[in-house]
Amino acid sequence: MIEGRDLYDPERPLDWFEEIYRQANGEMGVIPWGDGMPNPNLVVWCEREARPRAGERVLVVGCGLGDDAEYLARRGAAVTAFDLSATAIEWCQKRWVGSSVRYVQANLLEAEWGEGFDLVVEIYTLQAMPPEVRAQAYAKLEAAVKGELLVVCRGRDEADDPGGLPWRLTKAELVNGLTGLALAAFEDIDDPVKVGTRRFRAVWTRR
Ligand SMILES: C[S@@+](CC[C@H](N)C(=O)[O-])C[C@H]1O[C@@H](n2cnc3c(N)ncnc32)[C@H](O)[C@@H]1O
Repeated sequence: MIEGRDLYDPERPLDWFEEIYRQANGEMGVIPWGDGMPNPNLVVWCEREARPRAGERVLVVGCGLGDDAEYLARRGAAVTAFDLSATAIEWCQKRWVGSSVRYVQANLLEAEWGEGFDLVVEIYTLQAMPPEVRAQAYAKLEAAVKGELLVVCRGRDEADDPGGLPWRLTKAELVNGLTGLALAAFEDIDDPVKVGTRRFRAVWTRR
């Protein structure tokens, strides 16, 4: 396994993503999130909420190797999935030949998404950015949302140490970061697969 914290350089806090995919050299199992399956916290939410609805336009942020994007597409959504890493996007395009998902290399901090998406899905990208970069990401996430935003991340209480990469987030940080959207649901849960890992799963809607 390649550890993100071994590659992380606070002077260039986003560079390690491309580096980890490059070093993996096509071997999924050495990437910490390369588990080859859709995120279980996403699957539980989609099944419980009967989402996405057929034809919904969905944006997957920091899509990695594409398992969540493909899962959402199999459920009938029109999916755009993007990642900062050009190597990750090339990997998705090779891995998912014939897929309906539109894979795009883009930086969350810069990309513009026009009228926005019915559903934006953000899983584990915010927590992989240091606080000063993360603060810029919230406005960009908001701007991509026409309907709803689903966030899944590591969670902590205010008094807890945020730790290092991947940083654990507080409810207050998320709520204060996304003031242009209305918080519709907030779950504080134990990961169903990585038992003992505290997660937040939350949904915001366009006001
Ligand atoms: C911790 S991984 C999680 C990947 C995927 N969401 C998953 O759960 O399997 C974070 C992903 O976000 C991507 N990423 C990081 N910063 C980004 C940015 N500013 N814009 C777009 N993607 C970014 C990384 O390249 C990486 O694929």
